[in-house]
Amino acid sequence: MRALANLNGQIMPLEEVKVSALDRGFLFGDAVYEVVRIYQGRPWLEDEHFQRLARSLEAIRIHGVDLVRLRRRVHDTIEAGQFREAMFYIQITRGTSMPRRHAFPKQATPLELVWVEDYDDGPTAESRRSGVGVITHPDLRWHRCGIKSTNLLANVLANQAAHEAGCAEALLYLPDGTLTEASHSSFFWVQHDAVCTTPGRDNILPGITRALVLGLAGRANVTVREGHLRRDDLPRIDELFLTGTTSEVLPVVQIDGKPVGRGEPGPVTRKLQEVYGQAVREFLARP
Ligand SMILES: Cc1ncc(COP(=O)(O)O)c(C=O)c1O
Repeated sequence: MRALANLNGQIMPLEEVKVSALDRGFLFGDAVYEVVRIYQGRPWLEDEHFQRLARSLEAIRIHGVDLVRLRRRVHDTIEAGQFREAMFYIQITRGTSMPRRHAFPKQATPLELVWVEDYDDGPTAESRRSGVGVITHPDLRWHRCGIKSTNLLANVLANQAAHEAGCAEALLYLPDGTLTEASHSSFFWVQHDAVCTTPGRDNILPGITRALVLGLAGRANVTVREGHLRRDDLPRIDELFLTGTTSEVLPVVQIDGKPVGRGEPGPVTRKLQEVYGQAVREFLARP
């Protein structure tokens, strides 16, 4: 995989990036991040991702990051590597300080890391055609999931459990059985011809793809509702799909080994995949 990094403004191969052991991102997960898809060399939904990054930085009180400059660095790095089908990752940490103390250091300069890597959509494109299986897993995360923080251990463990079960994702549920979102995706379900998803005010990440799909569903004359889905309700839904920056609109055909609806990608999911693809094509057709 080809990957080019930009560490505090300096472009270098990703393998050459060195970060201090005293960096608070490394020690405490005191950091936030973003992942953005690049189609034909052009970052997709870039404004929305930078706006969410600004909100995450504000929420954890990392100040002094020049996001206009950071965006320029991203573009310089894409240009330097002549990336076409790719994605970029941004991570901002609170920086380095000595000695190790939990409270914010009086003086620390945020570390600004970006990298751009080639992205092969082939395997995901195949999953988009066939649909994937998921498991359900307890949601063991903290109460600030609206912040895109690098504290991802609960997500990592849930996703690992999915992989060990031969599945693509884990749908997370609260102690009362309410499903929230997935380990690195948002989810929607279809019931009585309406597309439903967990309310944005709940303790979930405000997915950029989720917001786009909500808008596209309206445009495609599909009724949209926010609501709650519990594990007990799963046998009664018609369709379920995941959304995310690289997965786009990904049909789920099995949950915990049981078929969703008829066990194949459903018509509403297919329709939304179509309008999603159209939105990307329209974006790429713009000068
Ligand atoms: C917990 C969680 N929910 C949802 C998403 C999807 O968000 P987006 O559509 O912005 O990629 C992600 C992406 O990383 C995530 O980590």
